[in-house]
Amino acid sequence: MTTSRPSGQRQTPYYEDVSPGTGSLPARAWTARTDARDLSLNGSDWRFRLSPSADGQDDAFAQDGFDDSAWDALPVPSHWVLHGHGSPAYTNVPYPFPVDPPRVPDENPTGDHRRVFDLPDGWPAGPRAEGETLLRFDGIESCARVWLNGQELGTFQGSRLPHEFAVGPLLRPRGNVVAVRVHQWSAGSYLEDQDMWWLPGIFRDVTLLHRPPGAVTDFHVHAGYDHTTGRGTLRVDCEPEGRVSIPELGLDLATGETADVPVEPWTAETPRLYEGELTTAGERVPLRVGFRTAVVEDGLFKVNGRRVLLRGVNRHEFHPDTGRAVDEATMRHDLELMKRHNVNAVRTSHYPPHPAFLDLCDELGLWVVDECDLETHGFLALKGVTNPVDTDEWTPALLDRAARMVERDKNHPSVVIWSLGNESGGGRGISAMARWIRERDPSRPLHYENDYVYPDSDFYSRMYLPHEEVELIGRREEPPMGKPEQDERRRALPFILCEYAHAMGNGPGGLADYQRLFETYERCQGGFVWEWIDHGLPRRTADGQPYFAYGGDFGEDPHDGNFVCDGILLPDRTPSPGLVEFKKVIEPVRITPGTEPGTVTIANGHDFADLSGLAFTWSWQVDGEALATGRLELPDPALAPGESVDVALPAPPATDRAGETGWTVRAELAQDTSWAERGHTVAWGQVSGPRAGSGGSTGPRGALMAPRRDEGVLRLGPGVFAPDSGVLRRLDGLRLTGPRLDVWRATTDNDDGAPWQPDTRYGPLWRSHGLHRMTHRTDAVEADGDALVVRTRVAAAASPLALRAVYRWTATSGVLRLRVSVEPEGDWDFPLPRLGVRLGLPAAYGHARWFGGGPGEAYPDTCAASMTGRWHSTVDAMQTDYVRPQENGARMDVRWAELTDRPGGEGLRVEADPAPFWFTARRWTSEYLDAARHTTDLVAGDTVWVNLDHGMQGIGSQSCGPGVLPEYRLDVVPAEFSFVFSTLAPGTAGA
Ligand code: GAL
Repeated sequence: MTTSRPSGQRQTPYYEDVSPGTGSLPARAWTARTDARDLSLNGSDWRFRLSPSADGQDDAFAQDGFDDSAWDALPVPSHWVLHGHGSPAYTNVPYPFPVDPPRVPDENPTGDHRRVFDLPDGWPAGPRAEGETLLRFDGIESCARVWLNGQELGTFQGSRLPHEFAVGPLLRPRGNVVAVRVHQWSAGSYLEDQDMWWLPGIFRDVTLLHRPPGAVTDFHVHAGYDHTTGRGTLRVDCEPEGRVSIPELGLDLATGETADVPVEPWTAETPRLYEGELTTAGERVPLRVGFRTAVVEDGLFKVNGRRVLLRGVNRHEFHPDTGRAVDEATMRHDLELMKRHNVNAVRTSHYPPHPAFLDLCDELGLWVVDECDLETHGFLALKGVTNPVDTDEWTPALLDRAARMVERDKNHPSVVIWSLGNESGGGRGISAMARWIRERDPSRPLHYENDYVYPDSDFYSRMYLPHEEVELIGRREEPPMGKPEQDERRRALPFILCEYAHAMGNGPGGLADYQRLFETYERCQGGFVWEWIDHGLPRRTADGQPYFAYGGDFGEDPHDGNFVCDGILLPDRTPSPGLVEFKKVIEPVRITPGTEPGTVTIANGHDFADLSGLAFTWSWQVDGEALATGRLELPDPALAPGESVDVALPAPPATDRAGETGWTVRAELAQDTSWAERGHTVAWGQVSGPRAGSGGSTGPRGALMAPRRDEGVLRLGPGVFAPDSGVLRRLDGLRLTGPRLDVWRATTDNDDGAPWQPDTRYGPLWRSHGLHRMTHRTDAVEADGDALVVRTRVAAAASPLALRAVYRWTATSGVLRLRVSVEPEGDWDFPLPRLGVRLGLPAAYGHARWFGGGPGEAYPDTCAASMTGRWHSTVDAMQTDYVRPQENGARMDVRWAELTDRPGGEGLRVEADPAPFWFTARRWTSEYLDAARHTTDLVAGDTVWVNLDHGMQGIGSQSCGPGVLPEYRLDVVPAEFSFVFSTLAPGTAGA
């Protein structure tokens, strides 16, 4: 490689060349195994050397005799920065190097990879060998130069796209040397500004493929479905010619010939595949054919003649240990998790995934938006530089990327939409890609979001729009954006939110409100939550405690902090509450109270499947405890998509138990599927029944007792209070701190909001008003008849705003009742984070039971999945370990809660009086939680802190989207709420 001439004039090195590269073969369809031989070169036998720059290394390492014994070992696939060579770095929009396309800095980490391998016995090798052998790289970030046995094969860019080289004549039976030089930065990096870690390396498979004479060079399966006749058409184009057989359909035809037969169509709900084979003179290629037709027609995206509703997620490839080198078990696990959570679509943001992932999508059933490896986001806000997507110079590279995606993935029934890339603006390169794809594969609609007059998209697609605007779009009444004819064209397009519901930290809020719009307006065909998984990387503190790191934790500058952790899975793939909520919101069967008491309405919200795959069960509860269960039979025939039925629930069994009654009805898988076992809950609903028995469980019982001063303390019934502050110190001998008024929560990523969000961001506003450091002033501690009344003013330093809080305590034997009245003072023109009381208990009281919403956390706009019932947990398990610690763990609609020293042990009981409350318990205060940056900053103290809230501010998704909708705001108004406190002796819990 020559980078400078004696004259001093620099020749463009290949890694700064905008052209697609040299030496690789034309793109073609990817297949898993065929009967031709292959040899994986993955493994731990690779040797590795890292250099700080691209210059200064010759190609001696590619030669036979080179001594690499001093090099480190590095597995392939991998990213070297995850193996102790350099560090990962995270930026969202900004390029981590000066923007001067196509130049890259001298500091250009360069990894030389080298492996020696033998061919298996009988592998045809050498100049006179039969057939050809290809060397395939499925993904290298960002630029590679490759050699085999000392001979240079070529160079390439396009990180998440395959590149193949013909190597047959160079091979020998033993001691082959494959050498790969990988540069972290290249011209291609300018096209790969996706919001994720920068992770260089050979991160996908390296394979040697034998191509016998007459083997398949490329093939294209065209398998459509005509919903009006129920027939499928099949044509397989192939080079060279051959035959296609699908025994199950009795098909045996020549390539290029069309067959027309009755078939069961492929859909994401019913992923029917027909096994077959493509045979040429030299190869047998297994086929899995799914018949389906995807079109945009009458302003709607339709598959097999029907509008489909996309319940989607954006999926980056990510594993905390291996980065974007994701193994097949993890891919399958992702898809199983998606299917189990009712997700039916995936956008492969923002590059084509590992090809095996698409095989799994075909098999398990997902609508796939396959997105090209293209993003130039960092240019959009810059002046004085030309965005590569709008130049002739870069267009060949863009076309190469489009072709490598389409050719590789064209045979997947799951791929129903091509996407040109992400956030690159519009331009001639983008339009050239669109033209090329439309011509090459007219059978799939095209998606592109980032050119707002949509010349190159069959969808009107946006990100993070407020609900209000989605509603206008649903009515095809959105505000004009371009010229009248452009507006007219756009208004005729189907609408999707290619990203919405930014799942950073606690949230996203408002999912159910979006879903209502998608189910109301046919033009709104759903969307893709941003995003599937938090990209947290595992690290340890100095004393060995594990945590997940985010941007900035590796010392990189610039960086975008924890914006890289915005998934509905935590980095270790634990579903976060956001995914549990999403599953409920998008469930394809709606189970709601029927029109008559004692009935339930079941509605089939699938697009294609009837309900024959589901079994329904009911359970009947009193005060959240199931007393009877059974099967719920639905009338025959099975409900078709769009149909609903009212079903009578069985009469409840006789009981002498008093309390709230209700039914829970569940739709469960009737049989095992490829993604979950029989009995897996797909959907559920609750129907309340009449109150059983008489009387409630709340409220003080017996005669009121009077407060009295005694030995320097105040006593009221079982309570002992501090005489000056009037704060409760003991209840029946149980040591307590508080309760006192509390309004603060450790701000969530959505409270803090992204700086570019246009509407008010409450997190910073709350802090500016000092809500995180409220002080309490006691104005009076007085007896009022049988009540102890404590008058206080709760306010922050430097602020005239205050909340006047009056605590009115009354007691009967063994029971204390607290009524809190809150009167705002001053002009509170913003909502509160929370409104309630906080109290502390000794650390031993770490077991919780409650009757109310559960099992997981809920907030006003994230509560669809909160099921009313009886739940128990430890305080530790009530926490959600968001990668950046923040408010979490509230349980909603709680009627009573208990904290005890062991299951069934002694402790505290709090009852609603009568309004249910929000219940939160943790081993640290909100202030402590707020100060933490990583989970390891949270160290349990000697107190269990309990928040009992009358009101809670919603969550929204302002970390990259709209804030909290007005109906979920906790506006400051006069408020009154009550609780009843008692202690529990061992064995009395839960009565
Ligand atoms: C979008 C972008 C995504 C991601 C997201 C915020 O603008 O397409 O890649 O950055 O915002 O997390």
